[in-house]
Amino acid sequence: MSEQLLNVVVRKRVEQGEGVVVFDLVDPLGKSLPVFEAGAHVDIHLKPGLVRQYSLCGNPADASAYRLGVLKDPASRGGSVAVHELLFEGSQVAISIPRNHFPLAGDASRSILIGGGIGITPMIAMAHTLQAAGSDFALHYCSRSRSRTAFLDELASASFSERVFTHFDDEAAAQKLDLTTVLATPHADVHIYVCGPAGFMGWVISEALKAGYAEANIHREYFQVEVDTSGDSFEVVAARTGKTVRVAEGQSIVDALAAVGINIEISCEQGVCGTCLCNVLEGEPDHRDVYLTEDEKAANDQILVCCSRAKTAKLVLDI
Ligand code: FES
Repeated sequence: MSEQLLNVVVRKRVEQGEGVVVFDLVDPLGKSLPVFEAGAHVDIHLKPGLVRQYSLCGNPADASAYRLGVLKDPASRGGSVAVHELLFEGSQVAISIPRNHFPLAGDASRSILIGGGIGITPMIAMAHTLQAAGSDFALHYCSRSRSRTAFLDELASASFSERVFTHFDDEAAAQKLDLTTVLATPHADVHIYVCGPAGFMGWVISEALKAGYAEANIHREYFQVEVDTSGDSFEVVAARTGKTVRVAEGQSIVDALAAVGINIEISCEQGVCGTCLCNVLEGEPDHRDVYLTEDEKAANDQILVCCSRAKTAKLVLDI
């Protein structure tokens, strides 16, 4: 079944900070766009075979536009570079309906939002929603340097500006993010949200666990991960077709299946988006994604076949 796509137009493109472009996408006829929740992202279909996810960073109460912030990362596999080079004011592009893998918990007494670099984007939408609901929250924004940082003007003029705390690597020690203080009062109703580079997220998550927060209260959104496809070869059986393939070391299950004519829908190819999720009927997956929760991984009945492998000699998938 093909996915329903929205055709949108770039209404505004603004360069901000260093290497960040902020886009406002609108309906070509000026109609309202489907509503989205804070934490949601859209897939941008840049060209055939090149689909990338970007968090929506506008106010979820504003259905007139979707705002995205995209950091140009020359080390990426072409997605962010293509966004910067292909999308200008007036450009048309197809996007998915917003999907949310990073929702706010409904029952929080307090929310601590922590964004590193371009990982600030979902936090801005969350701050709008929490502010509108009258909820208690703080937004911490870490960046290397003030001059390189996007969204500073927008955050300074936002209705929640007094809840925003910026932290720059190259400024005085006193303004740097002090996680011991920020995470000092773990409570079952306090939820933490973190998005940013993997090392930054690892630091925040380990400090939160050390401080006594439960795993379930630490919400995370990865926007870039290294895919490790090393490991022994194994066999995958596609139960519905009866076909069996061998997945070589360094090869993904997706690629091995494609070689025998079984094409799995993929998007991020990094274990981030969940598009390639398959049910496991037999065997034990070696989960390498950041999409499934620890509980879902432990259940071993689902696998993301763009990046994960097998701990057993054979995996039988419901495909
Ligand atoms: S394609 Fe995104 S998780 Fe596999």
